[in-house]
Amino acid sequence: MSRKVVLADSGGLDTSVAVRWLVDNGYDVIAYMADVGQPADFGKLKKRAISAGASKVIIEDLKKPFAQDFVFQALKAGAVYESNYLLATALSRPIIAKGLAWAAKKEKAEFVAHGCTGKGNDQVRFEVTVMALMPGLKIIAPLREWDMSSREEEIGYAKEKGIDIDVTKKSPYSLDQNIWGISIECGILEDPWNEPPGGAYRMTVDPKKAPNKARYLDIAFKKGIPVKINGERYDPVKLIMKLNKVGGENGIGRTDLVENRLVGIKSREIYEAPAGWILHNAHKALEALVLDRELLHFKENISLRYGELVYYGLWFTPLKKALDAFVDETQRDVTGMVKVKLLKGALSVVARKSPHSLYRKEMATYGQGDKFDRSVAEGFIKVWGMPYKK
Ligand code: ARG
Repeated sequence: MSRKVVLADSGGLDTSVAVRWLVDNGYDVIAYMADVGQPADFGKLKKRAISAGASKVIIEDLKKPFAQDFVFQALKAGAVYESNYLLATALSRPIIAKGLAWAAKKEKAEFVAHGCTGKGNDQVRFEVTVMALMPGLKIIAPLREWDMSSREEEIGYAKEKGIDIDVTKKSPYSLDQNIWGISIECGILEDPWNEPPGGAYRMTVDPKKAPNKARYLDIAFKKGIPVKINGERYDPVKLIMKLNKVGGENGIGRTDLVENRLVGIKSREIYEAPAGWILHNAHKALEALVLDRELLHFKENISLRYGELVYYGLWFTPLKKALDAFVDETQRDVTGMVKVKLLKGALSVVARKSPHSLYRKEMATYGQGDKFDRSVAEGFIKVWGMPYKK
């Protein structure tokens, strides 16, 4: 009896070739495909996996738990990596790896495998997750083992083995997409001095071609979670999809980053996250209204650390759990409404309100009705500045 392996299969060239390579190396391969909102024809991908030699294909819709438990948790935490990446890819890895590990348990497989390259972050995220959740599973990374080193060689292998791949439709970029955004790298983008060509983008229109009229959205939050757009209630997945559409039409959410990979190299990647940036900015604006200064400033440090943790593949760790307890506590009063304005690629928060607002007009005003007691300012400044008086 051959050894059973469950492979996280995206249906792309690498993983399709990996299916066959594993079969050739004596494994019974079960392909595990997770739906995290990437544009994919799962019927077609299933056929491809079978043509590559998989004995079974599991397709699992993870969109809802992904949105609820991963994306919105990161949103509450304010997680961003190196100021420009909302972590769409990084967030999807732990949930896919979790699904993979559970599939292996159900199938009584001794092995799991993934199709990540040997120089990227994703191999780390997959494997650390599997190690943390099911330490008994053995992990195979075919791309680190086989001696094919180029796309051309893989295509040759696929052709020779009769795997039905459509290489003609392949874009010049490496893409990874889910409901929270898309990551785009390789090709001409590998030179950081090259401006990304318009054709590289998938989720957003060129801001130049976006409507000349501003689009306004009222986003309602409850305890840090977005729940309504313009008065209409949406579940997490639909809410994100709606904002991706509206944001995308207005050219919102493009970023371009030379980032520090976990494995020590700098790489250049462009990202699109229309819903992500709308929600991130709106959420921060609401926090600015309801959180007191010390908590807000402290949380900024936590956001930084949280973003790093997600990027580093440390989702299922004690640190993440402890930070979540802090984050959830900070969100108790993050309920209210934020008005955002979208115009030709520009995203701005233009208004906000909350029953928990700490803003007091009678304190802030320079006009009539001022209640701020100026007489205490003098003493405060004397004490505050005392250490610096020579
Ligand atoms: N650099 C991003 C990360 O490490 C995305 C990686 C995947 N990108 C891709 N185009 N396949 O999270």
